[in-house]
Amino acid sequence: MRPALSVATLRRRRIHWRLMNMSSLPGFRDFYPADMALRLHIVRTWREVARRYGFVEYDGPPLESLELYTRKSGEEIVGQLYAFTDQGGREVALRPEMTPTFARMVAARAAGLPKPIKWFSVPQLFRHERPQKGRLREHFQLNLDIVGETSVASDVEVVAAAIDVLREFGLGEEDFEVRYSDRRLISGILVELGVPETGLPGAFAALDKADRESSEWVLDRLAESGVPRGAATDVLALADVDLQELAHRFGGSSEVVDSLERLRRFQTQLEATGLGGFARFDVRLVRGLAYYTGLVFELWDRRGRFRAICGGGRYDDLLEAVGGPALPALGFGMGDVVLAELLRDRDLVPDLSVALDDFVVHVSEEQLPEALRIVHALRGRGRRVAFDYRSRGVARQFKVAHQAGAGRVIVVGPEEVERGECVVRTMATGEERRIGLAELLADSS
Ligand code: HAM
Repeated sequence: MRPALSVATLRRRRIHWRLMNMSSLPGFRDFYPADMALRLHIVRTWREVARRYGFVEYDGPPLESLELYTRKSGEEIVGQLYAFTDQGGREVALRPEMTPTFARMVAARAAGLPKPIKWFSVPQLFRHERPQKGRLREHFQLNLDIVGETSVASDVEVVAAAIDVLREFGLGEEDFEVRYSDRRLISGILVELGVPETGLPGAFAALDKADRESSEWVLDRLAESGVPRGAATDVLALADVDLQELAHRFGGSSEVVDSLERLRRFQTQLEATGLGGFARFDVRLVRGLAYYTGLVFELWDRRGRFRAICGGGRYDDLLEAVGGPALPALGFGMGDVVLAELLRDRDLVPDLSVALDDFVVHVSEEQLPEALRIVHALRGRGRRVAFDYRSRGVARQFKVAHQAGAGRVIVVGPEEVERGECVVRTMATGEERRIGLAELLADSS
């Protein structure tokens, strides 16, 4: 048994608690009911669209071995890990992204799973970022991935799913766009410009920040990765170049030619889905994560007010890298933070308040047992029902019913109990009628 704490210790602790700042940690959110309603609306919509595309849901552990991320996620995310040594001496980390867990889970059972594998998940993720607009230290992220497909049609399917998710929230072509490119294209161009293969990961990380940092900063980082100054300036100047122009300028590289051909097919197929107007080729889009090998894409607010809403791409080597078979894969992650900001900005948050169906008023404590019978019979029929725990005055109970948005108030007094009846008031019209309890229950399914 633990020794009892002395009065002095208890007093010290109470003072300590009072002095402690009791708000949540920076970058972590409390979800009060209205915030929770929005989060649930977002997750419900994510699930609905993912299922419409034939994806099934999975989940994994929030804590993983540190090595899972240090091996493949890339420097930026590794620098943001919540990592520690657990009590068994294991090096562990809270998951900062879902893709390594997904790759690990699929790799472990790949042989027995019919292809293509189409899974989605809605994990809470943790990154020690500087909290700012659109970026927190925890967020929920829809992950939707396909394994076992190299087809352009699967590239289109994943991008179309991301677009349709946002359309389901009421966002349209005027609200957001998909920017896409291909990692092999930009690496082919960089190699043509004289960048060594070893400098490519650093060059990708620098280019990924081109829209947030000054061009001087990007040029310096590119130089550190072995990109000659002239070549780096050339890459940054490629901003608005289209596929044709790139074919003309870098047609000598088979990597460039192949990826341009694939991008052309991607464009044609995306047009066929009717979603072509949402997407724009942007050669400078590379994405920050290290594992992408082909198509890369991001969804951005067209008014330029927010950080990226969604990002993804093809990662054909990751499964093998985590010990599985060599299977191609692709997918995306879409966070709830920027999405919620965007929905608020465009006035697209619907009324999510959940009103009561019925409030059962009992005139005095004597009718409480009858009121309880009615309350539970109605709940048994699936209705949302509440009553007053303290048998307060009828006017007070009506006020509570009104505040809770009850559709009906059902009144039980001594007379009603005697006759096996109740009085039902429809709150919207004020209409009242006296009915038998059997009729009330028959009407309430
Ligand atoms: P990511 O670009 O790091 O990709 O994140 C995807 C999305 O998650 C971002 O576009 C953003 O909406 C949201 N997000 C990321 N970090 C934060 C943060 N600190 N606070 C709020 N929201 C955030 C990945 O995570 C890849 N694993 C996605 C993927 C899946 N690629 C293939 N499959």
